[in-house]
Amino acid sequence: MKHIQSKDWQFYAIVLAFSVVVGLITGNMNKDKVPSAAVPAQSETAAAETPAATGVTVAKRAETGTGVTVVKADDYAEQYPLQYTSYRMNDENDEVVEYTEANPYIQKLYEGYGFAHSYGSARGHTYVITDLSATGRPHKLANCYTCKTSSFTAKVLNDGDSAYAMAFDDFTDSVEDPFGCFHCHANGVGDGTITVTHGYLTNAVADDFEKIDAANLSCGQCHSEYYFDPETKATSFAYKGLANMTPDLMLEYENNLTDSEGNMFADWVDEDTGVRKLKVQHPEFETFLGEGSPHGGPNAVMSLTCADCHMPQKTADDGTVYTSHYWVSPLDDQDLLNNTCAKCHKDLASEVAAIQKETTDRENQLGEALAQLDSDLAAAIAEGRIEGQDLEDIRMTVRNAQWFWDFVYVENSEGVHNQQLTKHCLDKAEEYIKQANAMLQ
Ligand code: HEC
Ligand code: HEC
Ligand code: HEC
Ligand code: HEC
Repeated sequence: MKHIQSKDWQFYAIVLAFSVVVGLITGNMNKDKVPSAAVPAQSETAAAETPAATGVTVAKRAETGTGVTVVKADDYAEQYPLQYTSYRMNDENDEVVEYTEANPYIQKLYEGYGFAHSYGSARGHTYVITDLSATGRPHKLANCYTCKTSSFTAKVLNDGDSAYAMAFDDFTDSVEDPFGCFHCHANGVGDGTITVTHGYLTNAVADDFEKIDAANLSCGQCHSEYYFDPETKATSFAYKGLANMTPDLMLEYENNLTDSEGNMFADWVDEDTGVRKLKVQHPEFETFLGEGSPHGGPNAVMSLTCADCHMPQKTADDGTVYTSHYWVSPLDDQDLLNNTCAKCHKDLASEVAAIQKETTDRENQLGEALAQLDSDLAAAIAEGRIEGQDLEDIRMTVRNAQWFWDFVYVENSEGVHNQQLTKHCLDKAEEYIKQANAMLQ
């Protein structure tokens, strides 16, 4: 299933001349960009310098508490016409699939939580605010704005975690820049330097910040698994450092979290079964950089970044090479496939289709089995056939099963980012479902 939480240049007075040297640096595809001296100074960026590591483009970290205001995407239209025009193309990516209709079993799995009523697939970045308002899911706190508007990103940088606990409606009038350049470049677009403005990601990757390519971090700010801290309501990640960024260890982390009443952390509690359920959110970052990923994992065959595949290099009519800011499938870019992928992938579209079919077939089969398990457990409880410690054990098993299933269901590539990790998660879900069914006998 493809979804994010919501549901998720004509003025050449300023010369924009970048010589982009696309080079294979130690089997890596990071690009060296040489900005032209004609590029003017940007409005002041709140960013700190970080030491460089070999083969990795290192991002900057945004500074906090600086009273920063956002330079809006539209304000860059004249200065960066190529990037801005490609960014506006996201408006064309406007298709939405309603998953509650496509996969009715999720109404059971997410019962009691907003996603059971409305769960739209992801579409273009420029739709994030429209889609957020239209979800039909209730929004209580401003933390829902975390991945939707740079106006909120700036608010958190200025005010700290207290911003997350604001009432949703109290922030709505402050939304000025739906999905802005600010998320990835702060106010200093310059030569395309990436500044990580979402501090929870900086905290989560901790000492590994310099080891992760800037482009991967730019997307990981939103295309990642998070939860809202039960006390502060702050957007938080269930890991510290890359070694702890596995679905298994993240589950263990969330299973060990408690709320103010001492209960095990839950996104919601299923009324019929009492299972304290967790909702995974679009873990593209964790999946792509995880063990087994041929282009993103620790033992990658060939390291590529999210931008290499989703933001290919384009050549304008005047010969200027620039990075496309139209975030779509790499399969939509024949030049990329021919020039970069074809030497190893003769027919990537078929490979992708095969992986996605295998993934969704199994995801649906296990989703149905999990929904059946929910119903069977509810019936067993209603009839008094299970109670006490046996009931607690089975609830825990169902919670774990749904976590591993959801980790794949909500990952937008449908297995393509990392077949091995996808298979691992589905195997774990299947194992837990079997265990729970055996416990019900
Ligand atoms: C500020 C948060 C944020 C950042 C940063 C971000 N995304 Fe997204 N992305 C989203 C949201 C939210 C959606 C879904 C929009 C909707 O459906 O309304 C989305 C949608 C997408 C889609 C479209 C999916 C579809 O089905 O059409 C692609 C592709 C994508 N993002 C790739 C990327 C890449 C690659 C990066 C990094 C270079 C990135 N995104 C950075 C929040 C973000
Ligand atoms: C989701 C993250 C993201 C957002 C939002 C974003 N960019 Fe970028 N931008 C990148 C990445 C990643 C690169 C560098 C690509 C690479 O290194 O492979 C880049 C590169 C650039 C460059 C360097 C020149 C080039 O084309 O490579 C410019 C200029 C730029 N962006 C302008 C903008 C403008 C203007 C906006 C808003 C309209 C914007 N960007 C929004 C991620 C982003
Ligand atoms: C090796 C190339 C590659 C890399 C690197 C890569 N992806 Fe993808 N991604 C794909 C392919 C292929 C698809 C499936 C596209 C399709 O179905 O047409 C995909 C799908 C997606 C989608 C769903 C798009 C849609 O149209 O529904 C999102 C969102 C996404 N990727 C985000 C990311 C993020 C974030 C990263 C980095 C953490 C990343 N990708 C790294 C190749 C890549
Ligand atoms: C140097 C050879 C090489 C190049 C170049 C290459 N790939 Fe791959 N790619 C591989 C190998 C090897 C695998 C693992 C194949 C497998 O397990 O079946 C792979 C797997 C993949 C997968 C599936 C991920 C998975 O878990 O199996 C995708 C998607 C993918 N590549 C996309 C791309 C895209 C897009 C490009 C071009 C931007 C590209 N690749 C360039 C060698 C390459």
